[in-house]
Amino acid sequence: PAPVICIDGPTASGKGTIAALVAEKLGFALLDSGALYRITGLAASRAGLDITEANAPAIADLVRSKAITFTPNHRVLLDGDDISLAIRTEEAGMNASRVAVFPAVREALLQVQRDFRRLPGLVGDGRDMGTVIFPEAPLKVYLTASAECRAERRYKQLISKGLSANMADLLADLQARDARDMHRAAAPLKPAEDALYLDNSSGTIDEAVQQVLTWWEQ
Ligand code: CDP
Repeated sequence: PAPVICIDGPTASGKGTIAALVAEKLGFALLDSGALYRITGLAASRAGLDITEANAPAIADLVRSKAITFTPNHRVLLDGDDISLAIRTEEAGMNASRVAVFPAVREALLQVQRDFRRLPGLVGDGRDMGTVIFPEAPLKVYLTASAECRAERRYKQLISKGLSANMADLLADLQARDARDMHRAAAPLKPAEDALYLDNSSGTIDEAVQQVLTWWEQ
C-alpha cells in the first residue's frame, strides 16, 4: 500500500499549510481530515439537525448520504454546492469539533479517509491520523505551537479570506477547542507513541516543511 505521512496537532498549528506543501513537494495526495468534520457540522446545521448526542446517528447517516468532493483546484463541494468558504468560518470550526466527539460520526468518516490513500503516497492532516486512521504510517509528525502564536496565525488567515476576526475571541475559541479535542473519549488529540515532535512557534513554514522532508528521506 502507498506510504502515508501523518501530520497531527492542535488547531491553527500550521498543519494544513505544511501538509499541503509537503504533499506538493513529494507529489503525494493530501487528506485534509478536518475539512470532513467541518463539512459534517455544516451539513448537520443545513439539515436543521442540532448537534446533540441524540442526533449523532442521524448526523452520521446524513454524512454517509452526501457526495463530498475535493476538486483539483482546492474547492470543496457538498452535493455539488461549493462550500469552500462556508466551512472555514470560526463557527464551522467549532461545530466541527462538536460533531467530532461522536463515535458514530468518526466511524462514518473512517473509510472515507482511508480511501484517500494512493500511490505514490499520501499526507494526512488531522488529529488522529497517526493514532487511529493510519497507525502503520512510517512517518508521524506531531506539530505544536504556543496558543498565542496559533491565535495570531488564525487571525491573519481569517482576515486574508475577508472573514471577520478578533484576537481575544480567537484565543478563547482555540483554547476551548483544544480542551474538547484533547479530552474527548473518542480518538482524543494526542501524539502517537512513535510521533516526532515539531514545534512551529518560532520557525518559518519553509523550515518546518524542510524538517518533515528530511525525516521522510531518512
Ligand atoms: O483548522 P483547524 O486546525 O482549526 O481545524 P480542522 O483541522 O479543520 O479541524 C476542525 C475540527 O475537527 C477539530 O477541532 C477537531 O475537533 C476535528 N477533527 C478531528 O476530530 N479529527 C481529525 N482528524 C480532524 C479534525
